[in-house]
Amino acid sequence: MNDGNVRARVWLEIDLDTAEDNFRKIAAAAAPAKPLAVLKANAYGLGVGPISRRLDRAGAVGFCTADLKEALALKPLGKPVQILGGVLDFERAEAVANGIILGITDLEAAKRISAESVRQNKITECHVKVDVGMGRLGILADAAAEVIPEILKLPNLNCCGIYAHFPSSERGENEENTRQIQRFLQVLGELGGKGIAFRKIHMANSDAVHHCPSVLKPPFTHVRTGIGLHGSFTGEANTLGLRPVFSLKTRLLAHRMMPAGHGIGYNSTCRLKKATRVGTVTAGYADGLPLGLSNRGHVLIQEKSCPILGRISMDYTTVSLEAFGDDPPSPGEVVTLIGGTGQSAVTVESWAGLKGTHPYDVLCSFGPRVERIHVGSAA
Ligand SMILES: Cc1ncc(COP(=O)(O)O)c(C=O)c1O
Repeated sequence: MNDGNVRARVWLEIDLDTAEDNFRKIAAAAAPAKPLAVLKANAYGLGVGPISRRLDRAGAVGFCTADLKEALALKPLGKPVQILGGVLDFERAEAVANGIILGITDLEAAKRISAESVRQNKITECHVKVDVGMGRLGILADAAAEVIPEILKLPNLNCCGIYAHFPSSERGENEENTRQIQRFLQVLGELGGKGIAFRKIHMANSDAVHHCPSVLKPPFTHVRTGIGLHGSFTGEANTLGLRPVFSLKTRLLAHRMMPAGHGIGYNSTCRLKKATRVGTVTAGYADGLPLGLSNRGHVLIQEKSCPILGRISMDYTTVSLEAFGDDPPSPGEVVTLIGGTGQSAVTVESWAGLKGTHPYDVLCSFGPRVERIHVGSAA
């Protein structure tokens, strides 16, 4: 992409070819289970429209979202769209009317979805959510064999799916995760003993595709992958060879030679030890730069590493241009905040480390001011 044409202060450059490549690698690793693309929260902040269209073409068998608005936006693609958690009262009627697949988190929720489906004379596909350890939503595993048969008696529900969610799939098949997988399989066995079977059974998220092979083979039929599509993973080895799909860029606004002893930024958390050329770039915490990068992170300008000086402010960040000696870059120069290659590359994971968080939070923190520019076909 020609950065010169970008008329934005901060932008994410999202490579759809890489997104498709990641999707195909995850799909191959998950086979025979089939990939559902989790595109909630605007595809984790990266722009649900272009990403969903590309993954649709690449063979996603369905899409998962968190809420109704997100689900309705994906319906025109014509593939199954599933809300992963529960629906609120004001979402239910429209969800049923539009044929959104709904999660059943408890008997009461099932009754409400059933009643609405009867009212509309519709059959609603539902997947029953079983809580084997996440502790967030779902029918507790110990109650599942009693409650699920009650749900199946309700009219106008097509409960063909059942699923669970790991709290820590990145830890692989350790004792805890093995216990959760076994518990889920036990629930399926107990229900099977009552003559109840499901066509769609899923437990794996992205990290489970890397680390939990047991949930990729029958009876499991699907995996739900979100962050892996964007190239993030947890663990030492990038066993699937996923690649980051985006870089985050901004521009240099100005630079000045500053004298030794001068403070930089709010609260003067940096005081220059020597005369330094300091550049100001047009991105700050309103754009999602974590305050934790203050005095610790670096940016790349013409592939040179430029340490962040002082505290990140709302709209600006100050960096040392020492690496350029007497030949500083011109105002307007492109600054890479996340991206680059080799030793000096800045990754989502490195930001997450400095922020004391995980990559999901970094991705979902890019502000509304950050332009999303998709490159690659179907953009
Ligand atoms: C129920 C459920 N399944 C799957 C996912 C996708 O997880 P990941 O992004 O780790 O692949 C999420 C994301 O939070 C989720 O809540």
